[in-house]
Amino acid sequence: MTILVTGGAGFIGGNFVLDWLANPQAEPVVNLDKLTYAGNLDTLDSLTGDARHVFVQGDIADAERVSRLLDQHQPRAVLNFAAESHVDRSISGPEAFIQTNVMGSFKLLEAVRAYWGGLASQAQQAFRFLHVSTDEVYGSLGPGQAAFTESHRYEPNSPYSASKAASDHLVRAYHHTYGLPVLTTNCSNNYGPYHFPEKLIPLMIVNALAGKPLPVYGDGMQIRDWLYVKDHCSAIRRVLEAGRVGEVYNVGGWNEKANIEIVHTVCDLLDELQPRADGLSYRGQISHVTDRPGHDRRYAIDARKLHDELGWKPAETFDTGIRQTVRWYLDHPGWVARVQSGAYRDWLQAQYGQAA
Ligand code: NAD
Ligand code: DAU
Repeated sequence: MTILVTGGAGFIGGNFVLDWLANPQAEPVVNLDKLTYAGNLDTLDSLTGDARHVFVQGDIADAERVSRLLDQHQPRAVLNFAAESHVDRSISGPEAFIQTNVMGSFKLLEAVRAYWGGLASQAQQAFRFLHVSTDEVYGSLGPGQAAFTESHRYEPNSPYSASKAASDHLVRAYHHTYGLPVLTTNCSNNYGPYHFPEKLIPLMIVNALAGKPLPVYGDGMQIRDWLYVKDHCSAIRRVLEAGRVGEVYNVGGWNEKANIEIVHTVCDLLDELQPRADGLSYRGQISHVTDRPGHDRRYAIDARKLHDELGWKPAETFDTGIRQTVRWYLDHPGWVARVQSGAYRDWLQAQYGQAA
């Protein structure tokens, strides 16, 4: 038995593969990743020589390639993490998001449908296609509004969230029309080790340590619901194991925080763990910059279905998770230095007008 993971060299997919294979009894993983700017084999370094991990560089939109992989490895599940994932990049260049998140998901579903259709009936029943999605498909909440449940109306506001919404609808349709045994998870903001430093938390850590400005969009009062990445991974494992076919499960940490609070927390932890040479606080580097166009004001996930049906709950609080995360970045300067390639520097220049 094998599982096929797509996007397993990215932030969440990489953490998922590492956590999965940390179990000596775990089934082998075939890891299909295109290695875009966000894919990083360094993350999987500890698996070198582990025969249970087969890495394949390739595109989920390459249906022939995916079909060959499915036929060769006969996985009992496909977990789709692969995506273009950064909202700001979707604003400055939406096409790659349509290509991977919509067309790629479609091509992947087609290849999986053909493979699944050819399985013997018992294997067909046991097979699962798990699609990893986001809370952003539900749009933005006002201050007093209830958190997103699985039946919340889809109202995606950015090219990123619209492309993820399209993929969610395709997954749903492949179950409804063809009977493909699918599961969908819609998760809130993740943070933790191996997070690419274009996203809020790792960007703040690496900029703070480099003595650079900490760019807070607008008033910094936008709210996100933060979940430690390893808790997201445990939720995915649980849904794969026991989720009801065709169902959607929201995943969240009950940790709503305003961005400015997050940035203050990161600064305070760095003040404690690696104080600035001049004795001043990293908070002094905070700089309010022009807001993100169409910026969603608030996300919040109601994760009761996952808890009540499948007994999942996060292991980390925000306090424990963020401390481990800051510690991890301090302990892994080599990983950070290697992801700060030429392409990363070009992005910083285009987005913030600053060099890396
Ligand atoms: P990421 O950008 O860190 O990683 C994406 C990975 O997918 C990279 O390794 C990249 O090389 C690969 N990839 C991109 N296009 C590909 C293609 N066409 N074919 C094969 N591989 C391709 O993203 P992430 O933060 O790890 O997110 C993983 C998934 O989880 C995404 O589907 C995202 O929408 C979803 N999600 C992310 C968060 C979050 O907070 N980061 C929250 C909820 C859901
Ligand atoms: O909600 C889940 C989503 O969370 C995932 O689906 C996305 O893949 C993931 O990237 C993330 O999207 P966000 O846009 O919420 O994450 P980001 O880290 O880009 O931004 C978090 C908040 O911080 C958001 O309100 C924008 C703000 N921000 C971000 C950056 C990069 C800043 O204020 N300054 C910044 O420089």
